[in-house]
Amino acid sequence: MEVTEAFTKVESDTSTNSRNEFRWLKEHAIAATKQTASPARQGWRQRLRALCVVRGRGRPLQYLLGTEYFGNLEIVCKPGVLIPRQETAASVTYLVNRLVQRRSQLPSRLRVLDLCTGTGCIPLLFHDELYSAIAKHPRLELLGIDLSKDAVRLARLNWQEQLKDQTNVRGEKSPRVQSLERTNFMRANVLARVASDENPTTPSVEGLLSDASASGEVRSEWDILTCNPPYISPRAFNHTTARSVRNFEPKLALVPAERPGLSDDEAGDMFYPRLLEIADFVRAKIVLFEVADLEQAQRVAEMVVSRNAFERVEIWRDDPSQVNDHHDHTGDLKCVRLRGEGNGRTVVAWRAEGLDWLGE
Ligand SMILES: C[S@@+](CC[C@H](N)C(=O)[O-])C[C@H]1O[C@@H](n2cnc3c(N)ncnc32)[C@H](O)[C@@H]1O
Repeated sequence: MEVTEAFTKVESDTSTNSRNEFRWLKEHAIAATKQTASPARQGWRQRLRALCVVRGRGRPLQYLLGTEYFGNLEIVCKPGVLIPRQETAASVTYLVNRLVQRRSQLPSRLRVLDLCTGTGCIPLLFHDELYSAIAKHPRLELLGIDLSKDAVRLARLNWQEQLKDQTNVRGEKSPRVQSLERTNFMRANVLARVASDENPTTPSVEGLLSDASASGEVRSEWDILTCNPPYISPRAFNHTTARSVRNFEPKLALVPAERPGLSDDEAGDMFYPRLLEIADFVRAKIVLFEVADLEQAQRVAEMVVSRNAFERVEIWRDDPSQVNDHHDHTGDLKCVRLRGEGNGRTVVAWRAEGLDWLGE
């Protein structure tokens, strides 16, 4: 098959996108060929042809190029771990901007726990944006947790890449690098209440944090809890998820493990009650949970409101920074404010202790 012929098979792409993708793949093929020292190396055209064929079969571009931008960060992507999405970055950026607006109220030390961390993109972006925005910043501590060994390995690699990028040529460590060094990525199962629940070799989050804090490795209390969990219901996975996502991204990252007797919505919402239990355990002052759409956002917001533990609950749309003057409220939940433009993307809640940091 000719290179271009293979390429035009790319699923549901506009021609401008296809041309851009072709250019990126070509640049990638040329660079990869230059880096290969072997005399038997493939020429770049041969390499490009092979890339176009697999792209034409639907393999995501980011797995072929090896990276994706997430805010200003170039995150390494590998098959087996979810590719970070721009909507996730928009929520993280908006959260940091809200905190930055009240910088004088922030504590001297801020701990951020990210569950279901995947590539580690959320804590790494949080760190990058907070440090870029505030000269006199709080001392940050970050911990990312995932069930998948591949994800934890990749998150650590991304962390090392950020450390390398930010350490100067003389190897001097700025306060920004020193704070990035206070980062950890570990394995635990968010759904397990005790280690023996599902996988006896993987601890629950509570178990991991209790053991790690007893050994002084990490703390058991965290100020901010973020999570982009698997949230697609089995039905939506089969009927509405794009083929390239369904066939090439890990199902573990997209759909909660099946449990008998649950309705489709309950199956998709499976992580959120556990996330709220963990939020209590770590005494999180702010929680930020990604969701699939406005309907799921409303169900999750209702779970948060019914716990009576949070002072403020908001639903952020895809672009929460867009000013929306109608002071939208959602359904029966008069106390839940909707922000921004686009689909419902994130449920954010904060307790009384978080009022100084995020406002009324
Ligand atoms: C939607 S992805 C989010 C990845 C990353 N945070 C992001 O925003 O790109 C969900 C992640 O949850 C992880 N995961 C799935 N089940 C889990 C569980 N029971 N406990 C912990 N992590 C889990 C998957 O391995 C995957 O990395």
